[in-house]
Amino acid sequence: MGGQDDIRIGVLGLGHVGLPTALAFSEMGWPVVGADHDGEKVRRIASGESPFYEPGLGEVLRRHLAGGRFRVTDDVGAAVREANVLFICVGTPQHPDGSPDLSQVEAVVRQVARNLNGYKVIVEKSTVPVQTAHWLKVTLRRYRTGNHEFDVASNPEFLREGTALRDCLYPDRIVIGVDSPRAREVLLRIYWPWVERGLPPDRLVVTDLQTAELIKHATNAFLALRISYINLIADLCEATGADVVEVARGMGLDPRIGPHYLQAGLGFGGYCLPKDLRAFIRVAQEHGVDFSLLREVERINQARIERFLTKVRRALWVLKDKTLALWGLAFKPGTDDIREAPSLQVVQRLLQEGAAVRLYDPAAMGNVRRVVPPSDRVYYARDAYDAVEGAHALLLLTEWEEFIRADFAAVKGRMALPIIIDGRNALDPQRLKALGFEYSGMGRG
Ligand code: UGA
Repeated sequence: MGGQDDIRIGVLGLGHVGLPTALAFSEMGWPVVGADHDGEKVRRIASGESPFYEPGLGEVLRRHLAGGRFRVTDDVGAAVREANVLFICVGTPQHPDGSPDLSQVEAVVRQVARNLNGYKVIVEKSTVPVQTAHWLKVTLRRYRTGNHEFDVASNPEFLREGTALRDCLYPDRIVIGVDSPRAREVLLRIYWPWVERGLPPDRLVVTDLQTAELIKHATNAFLALRISYINLIADLCEATGADVVEVARGMGLDPRIGPHYLQAGLGFGGYCLPKDLRAFIRVAQEHGVDFSLLREVERINQARIERFLTKVRRALWVLKDKTLALWGLAFKPGTDDIREAPSLQVVQRLLQEGAAVRLYDPAAMGNVRRVVPPSDRVYYARDAYDAVEGAHALLLLTEWEEFIRADFAAVKGRMALPIIIDGRNALDPQRLKALGFEYSGMGRG
């Protein structure tokens, strides 16, 4: 790899990380081939359709497909042979004991090994435990055909679902872990357009492989820790009449703390924070480091659901034969993702207690319907107002903008009882009380 024109990027795995990553590279001017062994997914992407809900992604996809800077294939081997910098973006699920399941990573790396046809840089982008790069090297050496050289690098991704493309195009920092000058040069060249577009050069963090790998898990675990911390404070606020929203504001104005990830509520869900936290705990355990601090973080998070349900019971006494409207099912706004969504646990528990639920979410209804089929006690509403029809209480589980801006006078007119339990502290208690609602949040006095 010498001149500017000879970098050809391959992105292997086109999920929530791979597809936005690939398109961000195209957006910055690089030719990219995206590959995924799921033929159906590839066909959808090739036709210009994002396989999951992610604001703005479809439009950018169609632009780069049309302009020829992004191509997609289900022939992973062909993509490996064609590209010389390969970003591994396949899924890293977990085993039942919480340890990371790296079988997809291993399988794709074997495929890379068998298709090596010249020097390539193989970059881990999926979230993997520290020292995975070592195993990638071993696997590549064991399975490679010929004696082609390669380097392994770590380049963890920090994008959030719902703002994926923006996070990729305007990251706070770019972490690059390398152990060879050649890989370092290639990755710095790939990421230079970000610096040209305004990323301060000191936000390119170049480090060794293990450090880069660790930065990712340490970051997600810290975000989870902040959330559990504020949730614990929320419980104390509730017991003492303080308001956690104001406590968080007062804390967050301290520049040593900052305002982010201090939103108390139902706790963290999704495919990353809960899973990465468990994986990090396992990694520490394997290396003989006591991470009981992070075990508590997980325990506090799991207890949020029961805490929330206690509020529902406190408001309605007996839940059997009550009708509950649930606003928000996705694990957070801006996505249709319901993996480890607190809403699913809330729905199951309410059904177990004999309640009927009226569900509404702007994006995630299709996904929820697949795991919670409609029945005489499960109704999928047409919109937020249809959901509250005849309900004895409204439970806000995900803070979509359309819920925050809802016409609550109209909501009240449709409900059987004017009760709101706000699992995300997203609504204005004063306004709701003025309208005659009985309101409770999570740790708000
Ligand atoms: C998270 C990280 O924020 C990303 O930086 C990272 O790249 C990603 O995981 C990943 O590892 O792939 P994401 O899972 O999209 O991103 O979700 P977040 O926006 O971090 O939210 C996670 C959960 O925490 C949500 O359920 C959200 O409702 C909850 N949350 C967040 C709170 O309960 N309180 C807060 O203050 C913030």
